[in-house]
Amino acid sequence: MTFDLTFGGSLRIPLIAAPMFLVSSPEMALAACSRGVMGSFPAHSTRTRAVFAGWLDQMTRGMQELRDQGIEPAPYAVNLVVHRTNERYPGDLELCIQHRVSVILTSKGAPEDVFRQIHDYGGVAFHDIASRRHAEKALEAGADGLIAVCGGAGGHCGTLNPFALLNEVREITDKPIVLAGSLSTGRDIVAALAMGADLAYMGTRFIPVRESLASEDYRSALFGATAKDVLFTTALDGFPANFLAPSIEDAGLDLEDVKATPPGQIVDPGKARGRYKRIFSAGQGVGMVNEVQTTAELCDELIAQYREARVAVRERLGGSAVVGTRRTRGRSRNQRVTLPLSSPSSGN
Ligand SMILES: Cc1cc2nc3c(=O)[nH]c(=O)nc-3n(C[C@H](O)[C@H](O)[C@H](O)COP(=O)(O)O)c2cc1C
Repeated sequence: MTFDLTFGGSLRIPLIAAPMFLVSSPEMALAACSRGVMGSFPAHSTRTRAVFAGWLDQMTRGMQELRDQGIEPAPYAVNLVVHRTNERYPGDLELCIQHRVSVILTSKGAPEDVFRQIHDYGGVAFHDIASRRHAEKALEAGADGLIAVCGGAGGHCGTLNPFALLNEVREITDKPIVLAGSLSTGRDIVAALAMGADLAYMGTRFIPVRESLASEDYRSALFGATAKDVLFTTALDGFPANFLAPSIEDAGLDLEDVKATPPGQIVDPGKARGRYKRIFSAGQGVGMVNEVQTTAELCDELIAQYREARVAVRERLGGSAVVGTRRTRGRSRNQRVTLPLSSPSSGN
């Protein structure tokens, strides 16, 4: 299955505002879409399916209102944990099908029948991966694209360097790859494309936007933090993830205990209860998160930075827009990778 990665030109820059548990909201997603950035949220941020249905109704109404105002919004995406341990996902998927959600961001499992159901209504599925093996499984099962979650990403993260992961995954597919992990500026988006990715995924940078569900404490914890404050651990919920170390201490856990907890074990489960409310996740790009902006302001800033960076890169490379070559296994020739200098409808 192939599809237009600009979604009819509605995506003004190749960027997805990534889904974040208890942070992303429909208001945030709509605001991003209205500026030409793909907005998203996880289904599991909602406590019940009825609340999730309400969010989807809100999106359908909001997207229509934008169209009525003459704005063609970027599509929005929903994140579904499609693992058998998530009993809710078949019902949540059914709601996405009813609402014809354009893009589904799947994580954890990669069941073939999920991708088939998404394709049947014309949807597109991007699957989270953190290794070449994950990528192979997702591609075999029918994912339309991959989200390469690298070391330094916020939330549940990967461990691999982005160059290493992208190069390995590019060896096995020409399908779209979304790059995730510490991307924070428009220049980073250009860099992701130069590396061979098709889209960028930004989470941490969007946490403190006005429309997010992040608490005041969360926002304050981000401002002034830098990469050295981010702790990688599996000790809080069993998955590799990045958290702000000071928030772990503020929540009453001993940082040394957390660091000493071997993989496969959870640190002091009693004390860690309620951790998502008081222990704050952030990626290593947190040093670029310094102020509360509206989602629209942040998107506009990133769009302007992206445009400037394209020009700057072209100048640095001696006037050519060609920024590299892409080698794909089984091909006899290298494929030239060119930064998209304009999108058909926006005149960017
Ligand atoms: C607070 C927080 C919550 C997250 N929750 C989810 C989630 O529910 N589902 C998911 O697929 N990814 C989740 N992520 C990961 C993001 O979707 C994305 O991969 C990551 O933020 C990208 O790295 P960055 O934060 O360095 O930009 C979360 C990230 C953060 C920071």
